[in-house]
Amino acid sequence: MKTKLFSHVVSEDDPRIAEAAKIIRGGGLVAFPTETVYGLGANALDPAAVRKIFLAKGRPADNPLIAHISSFEEIRRLVRVLPESAEALSKRFWPGPLTIILPAAPCVPPEVTAGLPTVGVRLPAHPIARALIREASVPIAAPSANSSGKPSPTSALHVFEDMCDRIDAILDGGRSGVGVESTIVSLASGKPKLLRPGGISLEQLQSVLGEVDVDKAVREKLAEGERPLAPGMKYRHYAPKAPMTLVMGDPEKSLLKIRELAGPEDGIICFDEYFFRFGNTKYIRGFGHSCHPEEQAARLFKILRSFDSLPVRHIYSQCPEEKGIGLAVVNRLKKASGFSIIQV
Ligand code: TXA
Ligand code: MG
Repeated sequence: MKTKLFSHVVSEDDPRIAEAAKIIRGGGLVAFPTETVYGLGANALDPAAVRKIFLAKGRPADNPLIAHISSFEEIRRLVRVLPESAEALSKRFWPGPLTIILPAAPCVPPEVTAGLPTVGVRLPAHPIARALIREASVPIAAPSANSSGKPSPTSALHVFEDMCDRIDAILDGGRSGVGVESTIVSLASGKPKLLRPGGISLEQLQSVLGEVDVDKAVREKLAEGERPLAPGMKYRHYAPKAPMTLVMGDPEKSLLKIRELAGPEDGIICFDEYFFRFGNTKYIRGFGHSCHPEEQAARLFKILRSFDSLPVRHIYSQCPEEKGIGLAVVNRLKKASGFSIIQV
């Protein structure tokens, strides 16, 4: 199939959004911008359309999808129970980069939930995303619009690289600002639990919910056979083609360690203020100041992708602290490196 590109869609009144919504209603696939990363959308209530997402991405069938809505009220038809804590979270952080896991209503097809009794729901902040969902008049199931295993796309160009001629259309709404995916919190049973760190920090969740458990898969490599609560967290992810090592700890020390290990054909991801202290390295990328994890989140996936078109042998990366959105940045770096970590 030929992928239609709707380029430079900047206004939610753009008539091409209605055209894209028609494709969704007709059972097709449309990639669209969100404030976190680009999503690959299909009508969440149409099992045949949802199955196409798995085919286009090469996504394992046991990995459920997030249902995206355009106003809070739409969550009611998707979930069986709506606890007060969910309303409180949504009041504070929706529209925004937060996915809430709740018991699924019977109308949600098993293709979306991957057979789990729960469903993830998100009300995105991006005006084009919300206009698309509104126009389609159905919830939109959407994973990140990358091929399975690659870093999530933060621009339409990344989507094009992965999905050209595999999907019906791409809405190009410019760069995704947050740059890492939404935070996933489960309110499905017992104590709230963080399943994936993202655009809303653990500290922000705690400010509304009080105590929040953190799934082990957020910080650690799981042992063979161990299962994370978000099935997608078990897959190797975000991985550039070259092997990667994450050097965690004080930036002055990680600078020295990387200078010791990296050769001229290796890639380096560093804090901006360290850029000129690595010497004559060819493939070096600054991903933001060490004090600015929001910037690091916004740039990380583009940088990881950029190494794939370079002849780098190995990639070394400095690492921020695991606080605020830094927890999400470190989680993605750990996964990109396949948990090849040096602590300095
Ligand atoms: O920011 C985002 O969340 C982006 C944009 C497009 O909204 N979407 C996204 O989707 O990152 P995806 O499919 O790449 O990641 C969704 C994650 C997966 O790890 C999946 O296993 C988990 O959410 N997930 C979805 N439904 C779940 C459920 N019912 N229970 C546990 N985990 C769930
Ligand atoms: Mg993804």
